Amino acid sequence: MIIAKTVEEVRSQVREWRKEGLTVGLVPTMGYLHEGHASLIDKAVSMCDRVVASDFVNPTQFGPGEDLEAYPRDFDHDCQLLEAHGCHMVFHPSVDEMYPDGNGKTDTYIEILDDMPKQLCGKTRPIHFRGVCTVVGKLFNIVMPDKAFFGQKDAQQLAIIRRMVRDLSYGIEIVGCPIVREEDGLAKSSRNTYLNAEERQAALVLSQAIRMAEKMTAEGETDAEKVLAAMREHIEKEPLAKIDYVSAVDGVTMAPVTEIKGNVLIAMAVYIGKTRLIDNCSVNA
Ligand code: PAF
Repeated sequence: MIIAKTVEEVRSQVREWRKEGLTVGLVPTMGYLHEGHASLIDKAVSMCDRVVASDFVNPTQFGPGEDLEAYPRDFDHDCQLLEAHGCHMVFHPSVDEMYPDGNGKTDTYIEILDDMPKQLCGKTRPIHFRGVCTVVGKLFNIVMPDKAFFGQKDAQQLAIIRRMVRDLSYGIEIVGCPIVREEDGLAKSSRNTYLNAEERQAALVLSQAIRMAEKMTAEGETDAEKVLAAMREHIEKEPLAKIDYVSAVDGVTMAPVTEIKGNVLIAMAVYIGKTRLIDNCSVNA
């Protein structure tokens, strides 16, 4: 596997692959990779001739007081996982390589101006999706992939990237990949490493609430508020859990819905101790 640290290294390698007529897939990540990321690599390897993973903790998507400095990093382990799953190149740039103005700052952003990035996670993380779109747009410009792979766990991010690709005519196919869970249901996340044993147990309320929503909607419940109330009640029984949001939104626009009809996303962010975890399910009623 090639380890590229500069934009130029990535560009010249991708040019070589293009000359050979090979297709290229991109899996953007912030590193500290787990089986969820591995499933994105597997999918990309199955659909593209060459796969590039980016491994970069992107400062512009972290707000003040968020966990940018503490965000877990283990590049050697990431390389082992990527190589074992058949990734061809990892792009692991410095902050200055990605943001030449220095200190992870930029004056040029990609931002969706309607309410889409203000819903759900955007309520408490107002600059988050602007940073995500900006770095993903930059990665698209650097790698120029045919396809890019994102996890359904970050459902709002996935919807926003699809919108950005449409609005800015990127011509890249966005492939959404299912949530990967631990055996007991907890959605895999790099942030799970912040949890102590007691919190790890408490974190099960998220996936339990998701299962409740899936069951209620499968049984025909169409009143979103009833489903959300049952989920909230379950989560609130756990003393270590504090709800940020539990919401039902349109699966494409992220606008809140009151009726579960069509493509609906039921999503939540819950603090377990100091760790903010997210989970979701898509309902097609
Ligand atoms: O989902 C993530 O890990 C990040 O938001 C992404 C897409 C790699 C952009 O930094």
